[in-house]
Amino acid sequence: MDVIVKASAEAVADFVHEQLLEHIKLSPASVLGLPTGGTPEPIYARLVESYRSGLVSWKDITTFNLDEYIGLGADHPGSYATYMRERLFDHVDGPAEHHHIPNGLAGDPAGEAAEYEGKIAAAGGIDLMLLGLGQNGHIGFNEPGSSFQSRTRAVDLTPSTIAANQRFFGAGELPPRKAISMGIGTILEARRIIVVATGEVKAVAVRRMLGEQKTPDLPASALQDGRNVMVVLDALAASEYRGAPFVP
Ligand code: F6R
Repeated sequence: MDVIVKASAEAVADFVHEQLLEHIKLSPASVLGLPTGGTPEPIYARLVESYRSGLVSWKDITTFNLDEYIGLGADHPGSYATYMRERLFDHVDGPAEHHHIPNGLAGDPAGEAAEYEGKIAAAGGIDLMLLGLGQNGHIGFNEPGSSFQSRTRAVDLTPSTIAANQRFFGAGELPPRKAISMGIGTILEARRIIVVATGEVKAVAVRRMLGEQKTPDLPASALQDGRNVMVVLDALAASEYRGAPFVP
């Protein structure tokens, strides 16, 4: 794991944006795995700017989002489909069919998850997976206790994750309690992974991810086994982490 610490969240976004830009320029038909949440917002804003400046095209890029809430349609303001259209997809080129997000309204979430897994395989797997980090160490919506071999599936969200995501919903509206999420096993198969964490609220999860023996209690610790993993932190997220990654 390469660990890179930048002074601020802005500097993290600049750096990760550069990494993605270089990747897309070198591999304009690649398959990206994408997160939602607060962390990637400044990265998506920079990607939209670089598209508008003519630096990059998304026309041959395929994307797979990590997760979607069960019970929310693609047009619901709190859905991850809406999040992605508003932050990225509506502002770059490339047909909507290239952008995959699990269907939160599927009558059979298990079937939808299996189909999603099949679509990732049919696309040749994920070349570059961008990940955020939950305060409880989740990646995607793989909450503590998730198997490192898990595949895309329906999952229950923990109360702390529901509370952390309340800010994306209107007053009086609770986020759903279930989601479809790529599995940890699915994520680990990506050929390259960039994990991004900013802010003091992530400091404990970062310390445990990098410095402790891997355990399903801290799903992100599975990344210690990942191929080609880069962790990009701001100084606050890195503030509890001292020294080298845990070596068993
Ligand atoms: C979202 C996702 C989650 C988030 C994580 C951090 O698609 O998969 O794992 O990356 O909850 O969220 P933020 O960035 O809002 O702190």
